[in-house]
Amino acid sequence: METTARPAEGDLIDGRYRLSERLGEGSFGGVWRALDTRLADRSVAVKLLKPEFLAREDTIARFDAEANALAQVTHANVVSVIDRGTWSGQRYIVTEYIDGRPLKAWLLEHRARSTLPGLGAVAALFDQVCAGLEAAHAVRTPGPIVHRDLKPDNVLVRALPSGELAVKLVDFGIAQLGRRSGTQSGVLLGTPMYMAPEQAFGHSAGVGPWTDVFTLGVLLVELLTLRENLVDNEPWWGTVLHRAPVVRERLLALRLDVPVSVWEVALRCLEAHGPDRYPDASALRLAFRQAHVGFITAPGFAGGSALPGALSYVPSAPPVVAPVPSPVESDPTPAPPSPWVQHATAPTGPTLPHGGPSARSDLALARTVLAGPVASRPQSAPSPGSAPPWWKVLLIVVGVAILSAGLLVGAVIAYDLFLEPDAAPNALGTP
Ligand SMILES: Nc1ncnc2c1ncn2[C@@H]1O[C@H](COP(=O)(O)OP(=O)(O)OP(=O)(O)O)[C@@H](O)[C@H]1O
Ligand SMILES: [Mg+2]
Repeated sequence: METTARPAEGDLIDGRYRLSERLGEGSFGGVWRALDTRLADRSVAVKLLKPEFLAREDTIARFDAEANALAQVTHANVVSVIDRGTWSGQRYIVTEYIDGRPLKAWLLEHRARSTLPGLGAVAALFDQVCAGLEAAHAVRTPGPIVHRDLKPDNVLVRALPSGELAVKLVDFGIAQLGRRSGTQSGVLLGTPMYMAPEQAFGHSAGVGPWTDVFTLGVLLVELLTLRENLVDNEPWWGTVLHRAPVVRERLLALRLDVPVSVWEVALRCLEAHGPDRYPDASALRLAFRQAHVGFITAPGFAGGSALPGALSYVPSAPPVVAPVPSPVESDPTPAPPSPWVQHATAPTGPTLPHGGPSARSDLALARTVLAGPVASRPQSAPSPGSAPPWWKVLLIVVGVAILSAGLLVGAVIAYDLFLEPDAAPNALGTP
């Protein structure tokens, strides 16, 4: 009879993978870093189903489904599966090891520093998350793979030597594979704060790629605002169902330096009904690119915005009712330098160049925007060579007119004084 030993450091799984360090512990399994002794001791990640689930067929089936899902998706932004098997009576999956940190840590660090990520950094990360899901949604056989548990813990981020951040999606543990999911209606799987309404209600027939799109909308808002929700402790699915009329207005007021076009994309993701959203990550990715691309190089949208007080994350903040928070002065440099945040807000590569103003001018921009009416948002991407605004033209015309008038008056006076023969009769009326 097989034993069911709890995995420990040094264990050799199936005579091949030597466990070296516990990376994480989830509800169904523990994740370990291990050395692949058969392949030059390269690092791999081994996920083992906990022994207490040995008798649970549904759990075992889901665990196996994760390996099946990963096997269908070959993409740079999705962790690749290497092996699977049973060791000491326990199921295990081996994937490539990612030397990174969960996106959750990136967000927490920004929160701790009261630093909102710049639009360029957000765009670079979000585009990669979308790209990973795009590949999953595009699987033909057995059909689209729906992740159903996308959240910052399940997005691993690795800093490249260039300073760019590379994303890998992990944890396809409750993924739905095509339409042949064994999951029954009424079973709640996933993380409530990130769930779409149809998933929250356990309506598995209504779940599809658009369900991940909802979660991507939640993630986009979190990346931009460092908030998981619009109303404290209320998951987004509840907010969009119960407060639909005010969601747009309140969301747009959270961060005025983000173009409306980007918020519109988030809002479409957050539609309560699946058919009203982008159908899949591919459509969303395209729309997001179109919405932000013109703004990345525009002054004021580059890098991380150090916005003390006004736009920083406030965990205990009341429900968002104030349309525009007022800026608050505070010490701009209280936190020690962090290479992680600098990485995150550094230029993100040739496709999404930064090169804008410093954090100080970002702050100045934010103050200006916060002080002004909402209409002061940039409404469209600035196009090179487009006409200057009317007031500038008017200013130039008035300036030229005043200058010309001044020159004319000067010329008349000079002529009068020095050149013109004295045609005026003298006092006696004689020549
Ligand atoms: N391939 C990997 N490389 C490096 N670290 C990983 C890898 N896979 C997972 N991890 C780490 O382990 C943590 C847990 O992994 P994962 O999300 O796959 O499992 P889980 O959350 O335990 O699963 P479940 O939600 O099904 O209980 C991750 O957040 C990450 O920190
Ligand atoms: Mg996880």
